[in-house]
Amino acid sequence: MSPTDTNDPELTQLRRTNRMLQQRVKQAERIRKQWSTAVTQLQESHDREKVISQQLAEKESFLSSITASMNEGVYVLDTEGKLTFMNPKAETLLGWSYKELLGKNMHDTIHACRPDGTRMPAEECPIQKSIHNGKHYSVEKDWFQAKDGSFFPVAFFSSPLIGSDQNQGSVAVFRNISQEIEIEKRLIESEKMASLGGMVAGVAHEINTPVGVGVTAITYLEGETKQFENAFQQGGLTKENLSHYLSTVTESSNIVISNLKRAALLIQNFKKVAVNQSRSHNEEFLLQPFIDELLHSLQPRFRQHPITIEVDCSPNLTMHSDAGALSQVLINLIENSLIHAYPEQDSGLIHIQATLSEETTKESTIKTPMITLNYQDDGVGMSESVRQHIFEPFFTTRRNSGGSGLGMQIVYNLVVHRLQGTIQVWSQPEQGSHFLITLPAAIHEPIDG
Ligand SMILES: Nc1ncnc2c1ncn2[C@@H]1O[C@H](COP(=O)(O)OP(=O)(O)OP(=O)(O)O)[C@@H](O)[C@H]1O
Ligand SMILES: [Mg+2]
Repeated sequence: MSPTDTNDPELTQLRRTNRMLQQRVKQAERIRKQWSTAVTQLQESHDREKVISQQLAEKESFLSSITASMNEGVYVLDTEGKLTFMNPKAETLLGWSYKELLGKNMHDTIHACRPDGTRMPAEECPIQKSIHNGKHYSVEKDWFQAKDGSFFPVAFFSSPLIGSDQNQGSVAVFRNISQEIEIEKRLIESEKMASLGGMVAGVAHEINTPVGVGVTAITYLEGETKQFENAFQQGGLTKENLSHYLSTVTESSNIVISNLKRAALLIQNFKKVAVNQSRSHNEEFLLQPFIDELLHSLQPRFRQHPITIEVDCSPNLTMHSDAGALSQVLINLIENSLIHAYPEQDSGLIHIQATLSEETTKESTIKTPMITLNYQDDGVGMSESVRQHIFEPFFTTRRNSGGSGLGMQIVYNLVVHRLQGTIQVWSQPEQGSHFLITLPAAIHEPIDG
C-alpha cells in the first residue's frame, strides 16, 4: 500500500462504508434465518394444534355416541352440582331436555324430594358427595322426580370427575328399576305361595296323625259302647263288663284329649307362622327394661331349671320397632334353650348381649343404626344336620315329646319379615348354641307399600 493511498480520505471512507455494508448484510442474513426458523416452528405448532383438535373432536363424538347409545341415563355435574352434560336416555327418563337443565342444580331439581314427602338433604346425596370427597357410590334403590312431578325408582352409580389434579364434578349413571321391582314382587309372591303350599301340605300331614289317632280311639269306643248297650238291653251285664267298659272309656278319652290338644297346638302355632300377613305395630321402647320385664314374666319357667340369664345391654338403647314380635322371638329362643339345650334340667348360663352399631343396608349407602342381639346358651348344642334344618317348618327332634317344630320358623319369619332383620346360628354338639340377630333400631313402613 502506498502512503498516498492511506492518506486518501475518500478511499478510507469508501472502505469503512464497505465494511459496514458487509456487516449489515450478515446481520440481515441472521435475521432472515431466525425468521425462517420461527415461521417453521409456528407452522409445526399450528399443525400439531390441528391434529390435537381433530383428535379431541373425534374423542368427543366417540364419547357422545357411546353415551347416546347407552340404555342408562348419564349426567355430569360441575363442582357446584350444576348440570354440564346429559345423554338422550336421561332426557327420556326425566322428561327434561338437556337445554332446559343445563346449568341447573340437579339435586334440587330431580333428587331432593321423595314420594313420601320427606326431603333428601344435599349433604346426604351420594352424587353430591362424589364431587367433594372423590369417592364412588353404588345405590340399589332411590327415587328421582321427573319433569311432570312423578317419581320413579332408580338404581345409580356416582363417580367423581377427576381433572388433571383436582375434582371437577361428578358423573351419575342411573336406570329406572320399576320393572325390576315389579318382577321381584311377583317372584316373592310366587315364593310365598310356594312356601304357603309347602306349609299347608306340612300342616295337613302333621295334623293328620293326631286326628287319625283320635278317630281310631273314638271309633273303638263307639264299638265298645254298642257291645255294652247290647249286653245291657239283654240283661246280661256283668260287673266285669262294666269295669272293662269304664277303663276303655277312660283310656279312649285320654287318647282323644291328648291328640286333640296336639292338633290344637299345631293349629295355634300355624297361625303364628303366618305373622307377616297381619299388620305390625311399631312403638318406641327402651331395650334393657323391655328385656328385664320379659325375663321377669318368664320367672315361673325357671323355677324348675337352675339356669342363670345374664343380660348385657346399655340402659339407653332405644328401638322403634314391633316389641310384641321381638318378645316372641326371645321367648322362643329361651324356651328352646330350656327344653333342648338343658334337657336334664341341669344348670346353665344364657347370655344375651345387645349392642348398637351403624351399618349400610342393601337398599342405600346411608348408614342406619342397627341393634345386634347376641343370644348364647352353653347347653348341649346341635349336630350339623339339626343346625342346617333348624328354621324349617315342622323340623323338630322332640316330636314324641310335644315339639311341633314351628318355633324357629316363627322366629325366622318374625326377624326377617316383621322386624326387617337377619338371623344366623352357630352350634356344635356340647358347645352350646349362638344366635346372632341384627335388627334396624327403627323400622318404618316401606314407601312403596
Ligand atoms: N338352644 C338350642 N339348643 C339345642 N337345640 C336346639 C336349640 N334350639 C333349637 N334346637 C333344635 O332345633 C329344633 C327346632 O326347634 P323349634 O323351636 O323349631 O322346634 P321345637 O322346639 O322342637 O318345637 P316347638 O318350638 O314348635 O314346640 C329343636 O327340635 C331342637 O332340636
Ligand atoms: Mg321350640
